[in-house]
Amino acid sequence: MIKYIEETVDYLKGKGFETPEIGIILGTGLGQLIEHIEIIKEASYNHIPNFPTATVEFHKGKLIYGKLAGKTAVVMQGRFHVYEGYSLQDVTYPVRIMEKLGIHTLLVSNAAGAINLNFKKGELMLIEDHINLQGSSPLAFKGVEFLGERFTDMSMPYDAEINTKFKNIAKANNIKLHEGVYASVVGPQLETRAEYRMLKTIGADAVGMSTVPEIIVANHLKLKAAAVSVLTDECDPGNLEPVDINDIIAHAAKAEPEMIILFKELIKTI
Ligand code: HPA
Repeated sequence: MIKYIEETVDYLKGKGFETPEIGIILGTGLGQLIEHIEIIKEASYNHIPNFPTATVEFHKGKLIYGKLAGKTAVVMQGRFHVYEGYSLQDVTYPVRIMEKLGIHTLLVSNAAGAINLNFKKGELMLIEDHINLQGSSPLAFKGVEFLGERFTDMSMPYDAEINTKFKNIAKANNIKLHEGVYASVVGPQLETRAEYRMLKTIGADAVGMSTVPEIIVANHLKLKAAAVSVLTDECDPGNLEPVDINDIIAHAAKAEPEMIILFKELIKTI
């Protein structure tokens, strides 16, 4: 993998992706952050050597280099999911590239279902810890020890200092920000009632189909990492309504302005 990484990084450096400080993965609910970035360079995923092969859905996927809140950032507009058929190594390849470009911090957003029924759709949740239910690890491959420690410590996968800052920013801006445990499943099907009951029993506050692989690799590379979920549906097994994907997208969009404030204000401080 090292040779592939070098090739990708050389290409991006040659394109002018110089010394980003922060990496951002724009998930559902943060797409509009792009409007706040002073774009210096961009590269379509299709054109970046060794990037996961684009699917139709990904014709718009782009890596952006620019300035945001006074910092240089590399931003993934569009991410890869295991449910699209990518391997966990593919899904996390861009994190390895962003690290080699020079980032010290990775910030991630996603959409998630609320398992904790005190949390309501349209609200935000800061991820404090996670449970990996994707069935494997992005670190389970031959040669991983040449890229970082194989037995990566996960005692504090989300940076405590960044999370404290997020909470202070939320308070100062009157934003309701819950804190909890995010469980990642493969998807793309949503969960059954029995699965929602199980998720609650094992200690999850929210469930989604992303983020955990990227956070594991960020920890493998000793990056500081943080993630915020926008809660798009309420997963009440006793009263479960069929989920409408358009409803999920609409709730994510509604929370977007708050998510943008959190990220912009945070980036000023790191
Ligand atoms: N389950 C899994 N992923 C999700 C959900 C959910 O209920 N909502 C948004 N992403």
